[in-house]
Amino acid sequence: MNAQGNVEGTSRYHEVHARSLADPEGFWAEAAKEIDWIEPPKKIFDAAQGTYGRWFGGGVVNTCYNALDRHVEHGRADQVALIHDSPLTNSVAKFTYAELLGEVQALAAIMQDFGVAKGDRVILYMPMVPEAVVAMLACARIGAVHSVVFGGFAAKELATRIDDAQPKLILSASCGIEPGRIVHYKPLLDEAIRLAGSKPKACIVLQRPQHICDLTPGRDYDWASLRRKAMNESKKAPCVPVAATDPLYILYTSGTTGIPKGVVRDNGGHLVAVKWSMFNLYGVKPGEVWWCGSDIGWVVGHSYIVYGPLLHGATTVMYEGKPVGTPDAGAFWRVISEHKAVAFFTAPTAFRAIRKDDPEGKFIRQYDLSRFRTLFLAGERADPPTVEWAEAQLKVPVIDHWWQTETGWCIAGNPVGLGMLPVKHGSPTVPMPGYQVDVVDEAAKPVGPNTMGSIVIKLPMPPGCLPTLWNQDARFKEAYLSEFLGYYKTSDAGYKDEDGYVFVMGRTDDIINVAGHRLSTGGMEEILASHPDVAECAVLGVKDAIKGEVPCGFLVLKAGVKRAPGEIEKEIVALVRDKLGPVAAFKLAITVGRLPKTRSGKILRGTIKKIADGESWTMPATIEDPKVLDEIGEALKGRV
Ligand code: COA
Ligand code: AMP
Repeated sequence: MNAQGNVEGTSRYHEVHARSLADPEGFWAEAAKEIDWIEPPKKIFDAAQGTYGRWFGGGVVNTCYNALDRHVEHGRADQVALIHDSPLTNSVAKFTYAELLGEVQALAAIMQDFGVAKGDRVILYMPMVPEAVVAMLACARIGAVHSVVFGGFAAKELATRIDDAQPKLILSASCGIEPGRIVHYKPLLDEAIRLAGSKPKACIVLQRPQHICDLTPGRDYDWASLRRKAMNESKKAPCVPVAATDPLYILYTSGTTGIPKGVVRDNGGHLVAVKWSMFNLYGVKPGEVWWCGSDIGWVVGHSYIVYGPLLHGATTVMYEGKPVGTPDAGAFWRVISEHKAVAFFTAPTAFRAIRKDDPEGKFIRQYDLSRFRTLFLAGERADPPTVEWAEAQLKVPVIDHWWQTETGWCIAGNPVGLGMLPVKHGSPTVPMPGYQVDVVDEAAKPVGPNTMGSIVIKLPMPPGCLPTLWNQDARFKEAYLSEFLGYYKTSDAGYKDEDGYVFVMGRTDDIINVAGHRLSTGGMEEILASHPDVAECAVLGVKDAIKGEVPCGFLVLKAGVKRAPGEIEKEIVALVRDKLGPVAAFKLAITVGRLPKTRSGKILRGTIKKIADGESWTMPATIEDPKVLDEIGEALKGRV
C-alpha cells in the first residue's frame, strides 16, 4: 500500500477512464458531489447549450465559498491555506483559511464600493504576492470575472487585454522583483491605459516597500489604505450566487496572430474538474502541503497555485523566486523541505536550469525531502534526459503531464490517486477521465498506433475546458472546432502507442514554448515588420539547452537602408522587449539578404529551423532558389 492508499502495481485508471466515456453524465455527477452547490445542477451536460454543450446547467454556486468559507465552517479555520515564500524579498508569510477569508471578504467589499458587480471584469496585473491570490478570490466571491495578465508582458500586451476585457477596475502593484532588477509596473500600467480605447474606472495599487510609485489622482487608490479602512469598518462582502455556466475568469493566451485569445473558464465545470484532479491525479489529500512553482499569470498558476489546492482544503505554496540564483540551485529543495510539501509541480525548463548549476544534485542532499512524494512536470515536452536526471536525483516518481490554457487541467497524465501506471519517458501517459484523445490524419480519420498525426479531443470536452473565447464564439469555432469535425483541435502533433500512451511532439501552428511560456512567432513577426527598415521577416523557435526553445528573428532590410545591420538588430531586440515584454526572451535578430521561399512565396520556416538547430534537412522540392539556404547557413554561423 502506498501513501495514496493504492496497492502497488494496481491502478483503477482503465476502469475509471472507460466509465467516464461510457457514462460522462454519471461520472461527472458523482464528481460534482465534492462541491457545495447553492442549487444543484438541473442538467449535468446540456448538448443544446453553448458552442458544443455546457456542463452543470441550472447549477448555482460560488467558487470562493468552495475555496474558503466551507473550509472555515468545517474545521480548517486555523489551518494554513497559503504560504508565500519569497527569496527575492527574503520573506515568508502564512495565512490561515480564516485569515485569507477575512482578506478576501474585505477586498471584495472594497471592489463592490467601486461599483464592481456580477459579470464585471477586473484585470489583475500583479507580481507573485499574496494580494494577487486575495484579488482573484475576491472577484470570484462577488461574481466578477478576473483576468490576470502576466507581469512579464509589456504595456501594449496589457492594453490589448484591457480593450478586449473592458475591465471596470484594474488591480496592480508598484513593482515586481526579478533577480537584480525591480520591474516598475506603474509606468507600464499608465502606458497601457493610455494606449487602450477602453478606460477602467479606477486602479487599486499595492505599494511594495521595494519601490513606492506615484498614484494618479482621481484614478489610482492605495491598496493598503483601502484595506485598513475596510478592516476597521469590518466590511465583509458575502458570496454572490452565480450560475455554474457563468464565467469565473478570462485568461488570454497566444493565438496565431498578435491578437491573444481570451480563454473563458466557467465556475461549475472548473470547480468539479480541478477539485477532482487534486487527489485522483496529483494524489494530494486535504490538509497536506502542495507547491506549484508557476506564476499566477499562467493557467497552471490559476488552477494549481490558487483554485485546486484551496478547493481541496490543502495548503498551497506561492513562490516568488527562480529555480537558480535565488540564491542557488537548492532553492526548490529548501522550499519543499521547509514547508513540508508532499508534491511539487513545475516546468522541465526549471530542472534543466538546476541540472546545469548542480549536475550532481549536491544541493538536493542538503535538505530533508522525506515527505516529498511526487514531482509533476508540464508546460512543455519533458525531455527524457531531464526526467531521468530528476528521477535519479530525487528518487520519487517524476510525472510529465500535458495540458493547455484552453483545457484548464490535464489532458493526459499519470493518475497518482487512482494508482500510477508505468512511466514511459517522453510520454505524459494516458488521457484523463472525460478526454477521448485521438490522433487523426487530415481527413479527421484516426491513424494507427505509433503513427504521427494531429492530436484531437472528441467533443464534448470534459468539465473545466473552455466553453468559448471571450466575446468570440465564431473565432472559437473557427480556431478549434472547424478543421476536424466532431473534435477539438489541440494544435499539438504526436502519436499514441499500442498501450494508448500519448506522445506530444510539438505544435502544428506558429506557437513556440520558451521556458514553459507560450508565445506566438506570428505576433513577434508583426512587431519586427513594424520597424521602418525591415522589408520582410520570419521568426521561429530555435533549440536552447535551458529554455527548450528561444525565438530567432530573420530580417531582410529595405533596399537603400544604409545603417549597419548590427544597429538595426539591436533596435529590433529592444522593440520586441518593449512591445511584447521581456518574457519573450527575444535576443537574436539576424539580417539576411533574402529569405528562402517556395515558388508560391511561402517562407520555408521549417527548413530554416532545421539548419539553425543543426539537424539534417532535405532540400524542399518547391524551393524557389536553393542557394538561399546556404546564405542562411552562413548568416547563422557564430550566432546560435
Ligand atoms: N515580470 C517582469 N519580468 C519578468 C517576469 C515578471 N513576472 N518574469 C520573467 N521576467 C523577465 C525576466 O526577468 C527575464 O528578463 P531578462 O531578459 O532581463 O533577463 C525574461 O523575462 C525572461 O524570463 P524567464 O523566462 O523567467 O527566464 P530567466 O532567464 O530569468 O530564467 C528559468 C530561466 C528557466 C529559470 C525560468 O524561465 C523558469 O523558472 N521557468 C519556469 C517557468 C514556469 O514555471 N512556467 C510555468 C508553466 S508550468
Ligand atoms: P499553455 O497553454 O501555455 O499551457 O501551453 C500549451 C502547450 O504547451 C501545449 O499545446 C503543448 O504544445 C505544450 N505542452 C504543455 N505541456 C506539455 C507536455 N507535458 N508535453 C508536451 N507539450 C506540452
